[in-house]
Amino acid sequence: MNPVVSIALLLSVLQMSRGQKVTSLTACLVDQNLRLDCRHENNTNLPIQHEFSLTRDKKKHVLAGTLGIPEHTYRSRTTFTSHNNIKVLTLANFTSKDEGVYTCELRPSGQPSDGFSQTVHVLRDKLVKCDGISLLIQNTSWLLLLLLSLSLLQATDFISL
Ligand SMILES: *[C@@H]1O[C@H](CO)[C@@H](O)[C@H](O)[C@H]1NC(C)=O
Ligand SMILES: *[C@@H]1O[C@H](CO)[C@@H](O)[C@H](O)[C@H]1NC(C)=O
Ligand SMILES: *[C@@H]1O[C@H](CO)[C@@H](O)[C@H](O)[C@H]1NC(C)=O
Repeated sequence: MNPVVSIALLLSVLQMSRGQKVTSLTACLVDQNLRLDCRHENNTNLPIQHEFSLTRDKKKHVLAGTLGIPEHTYRSRTTFTSHNNIKVLTLANFTSKDEGVYTCELRPSGQPSDGFSQTVHVLRDKLVKCDGISLLIQNTSWLLLLLLSLSLLQATDFISL
């Protein structure tokens, strides 16, 4: 691998440590309910706006959040919980009618252009149960990314240059 690629990789890892970035969005099933885990950075004290939405047949439906107005049909089916660096949305009674691309978007208040988002394509047949997915994943993924980038750099002898 050439050094330019290594530098780009390192930069992208470093960039992840700045801003209120959405680091991952995952979907899984709890009984008949869809659970969306939106993990993000928390390194600012600015209030933050969020939005969960579903895009289906090219139409966007707001499910929950403070950015757009949640659609009435979803409001009664969603439950939202938030911790320091994870926002969790549960959509009750998930069926194939709810398949589509789910988006989690975060935006600092008063900065309309500066949002971060992640998407996940949810298909009923491909959904896994939530059991195996731990909230601890976030902690270890950082370390893994760092180790990965370091070993990549080492592999190209970048460090010894
Ligand atoms: C989910 O479906 C069950 C059975 O059809 C129903 O009793 C329940 O009210 C539904 N839950 C929501 C949140 O719509
Ligand atoms: C970020 O963390 C602080 C405590 O460490 C908490 O008070 C704040 O609400 C968190 N922000 C978000 C957006 O979760
Ligand atoms: C990350 O690890 C710390 C302790 O090592 C723990 O207190 C914290 O809850 C963990 N964060 C998550 C998201 O699990």
